[in-house]
Amino acid sequence: MNISEEIKKRRTFAIISHPDAGKTTLTEKFLLYGGAINLAGTVKGRKGAKHAVSDWMEIEKERGISVTSSVMQFNYDGFCINILDTPGHQDFSEDTYRTLMAADSAVMVIDGSKGVEAQTIKLFKVCVMRHIPIFTFVNKMDREARDPFELMDEIEDVLGIRTCPVNWPIGCGREFKGVYDRFKETITTYRASMNGQKEVESTEVTLGDERVDDLIGDAFHRQLIDDIELLDGASDELDMDRVSRGDLSPVFFGSALTNFGVETFLQHFLQMTTSPLPRLTTTGYVDPFEEDFSAFVFKIQANMNKAHRDRIAFMRIVSGKFDAGMEVNHVQGSKKLRLSQPQQMMAQDRKIVEEAYAGDIIGVFDPGIFSIGDTLCKTNQKFEYEGIPTFAPEHFARVRQIDTMKRKQFIKGVNQIAQEGAIQIFQEFNTGMEEIIVGVVGELQFEVLTYRLENEYNVEVRLEKLPYEYIRWIENKEEVDVAKIQGTSDMKRIKDLKDNPLLLFVNSWSIGMVLDRNPELKLSEFGHN
Ligand code: G4P
Repeated sequence: MNISEEIKKRRTFAIISHPDAGKTTLTEKFLLYGGAINLAGTVKGRKGAKHAVSDWMEIEKERGISVTSSVMQFNYDGFCINILDTPGHQDFSEDTYRTLMAADSAVMVIDGSKGVEAQTIKLFKVCVMRHIPIFTFVNKMDREARDPFELMDEIEDVLGIRTCPVNWPIGCGREFKGVYDRFKETITTYRASMNGQKEVESTEVTLGDERVDDLIGDAFHRQLIDDIELLDGASDELDMDRVSRGDLSPVFFGSALTNFGVETFLQHFLQMTTSPLPRLTTTGYVDPFEEDFSAFVFKIQANMNKAHRDRIAFMRIVSGKFDAGMEVNHVQGSKKLRLSQPQQMMAQDRKIVEEAYAGDIIGVFDPGIFSIGDTLCKTNQKFEYEGIPTFAPEHFARVRQIDTMKRKQFIKGVNQIAQEGAIQIFQEFNTGMEEIIVGVVGELQFEVLTYRLENEYNVEVRLEKLPYEYIRWIENKEEVDVAKIQGTSDMKRIKDLKDNPLLLFVNSWSIGMVLDRNPELKLSEFGHN
C-alpha cells in the first residue's frame, strides 16, 4: 500500500464523557469489533478488580477516574483507527484540550438515563474551543432512558449545538429492541447474549418489511412511524459542512454494554469523520499527504509504567511517513535527532513501531528534551506547528518538602511534572527556588502532585493552599519596575522559572484597581511557554 492510501484510511478521534457514562466500555467494544480483543470484559477486569484499559496510575484505580489520556490503535473494515482516551474528571480539562489538539474529531458519550452531565458540559466547551466535529453516542439505552426527543433538546439547549439523529432507538430498558437507521431506512434488531462479551447477533430489515411487526411488535412499530415523522419535520438536515465546523452533532443511540447499536455507530462514524486534516504552521498549512514527515508533541508523560520508569513524549504525525531510526529536526531544540524507541500503545501493551503515518500517534522515549507543542520535521526543514495554549491556573499552593535533605529529588520531580504540563511552577518574586509556588487549573492536580512526588520521587511534601485565584503576566516587564507597582492588599508578586514577573490576585476587581493605579502597566491572562 502506498503512503497516501495508508493516510487515507486513518481516522484519529478523541472520546469524551462524564465519568461512568460508558466511555471505557464503548472503547472496549470498538476493540472487540476491530478484532483487537476477543472477549470484552477482559481488558476492563471483573467487578471488584475494576481497572480500565487506560488506567496507568494507581490514583486512577483508587478513584476510578481516568486521569491521563491514553492512545489505542486498531483496524476495522479497512480503516486504521487511533482512539485518544481523555480524562473524564473536570480537573483535567487542560489535558483534554491537548489531547483534542491531536484529534480530528470527538465522540461524546452520554448516559441516556442522565442526559447532559456536569463534566460533559465542561469537556464539550473544550471541544468547541477546538472547533472539531462532535459525534454523540447516547449510551445505556438498555436501561430506563429518558425520552430521546427530550435528550436531543437538552443537548441543544445545554450545549448549544444542533443535533441530527442518524439512528433512533426503538424502546429502551428491557424493551430496547434495536435502532432505526434514518438514512438507510432500515431497522436493526438485536438478540442479547453473553452479556455483550461477544459481537451481538442482529437482524436488519427495511422499514416496509412485513417482518417488522414480528420483530419489534405492533406498538413499537406505530411509535416508530410517529417518531420518524416528527424527526423528519423537526430535526436539522445532516449537513456535513456544519458537522465539520462543530455546529451540528450527528447523534446515535445504543448500549455499549450489550453491543446494541455499537457497530452501526462505528460504521457511520468512520464514513462521516475525515481522514487526517491539514494543520497550521508558522509557514502555512501542512497537508497530511505531503511526503515529508512532520509531527508535534501534544503530551508528555513520565513514569507511565512503574516497571519502565521512563518518560514518553506523545506526538501526532501530521504529514508523511515515519520510519523508525529516521533522523528528524527538533525545531524548538534546534537539534537533529533520531527518535528513540518509537512506540504505539494498545491497551497496556506497547509495541515498537517500524513505520507510522499521518494521523497516527506515536510515543517516543524522552530524555527530557521535549516540551508540549514542539515540532519535529525533516532535517532540512524548519517550521513550527501552532502552539498549544496553556490554561491560566486558578488554584495556588506553596509546596514545601518535609525532608529538606531531598532537595534534588524534589526539584527534579516538580520540574518534570511541570514539563508534562500538569502543574505550573512559580517562585517568590525576591527569592530563589527555596520556596515553590504551584499553580494548577483543577484542584485535583494538587493531590496528583503530592501522590506522584511521594511515589515516583520518594519526596514527601506539605502543601499550603494560597487564596489567590487570578494570575496575570506583566506584558511590558521591560518598561515597569515590578517592585514599585502600586498594588492592592490582596496582590502578590511572583515570577515564573524564566524570571518573568507575574501578579496573583484574590479578587478579580483588584486587577482593575491595580491597572488604574499603574497606568503604564500592561497585564495578560496568558503565559508563554
Ligand atoms: P466511563 O469509562 O465513562 O467512566 O464508564 P465505564 O465504561 O467504566 O462504565 C461505567 C459503568 O457503566 C460500568 O459499570 C459499565 O459496565 C456500565 N455501562 C457502560 N455502558 C453501559 C450500557 O450500555 N448499559 C448499561 N446498563 N451499563 C453500562 P460498573 O463500573 O461495572 O459498575 P456496575 O454499574 O456494573 O456496578
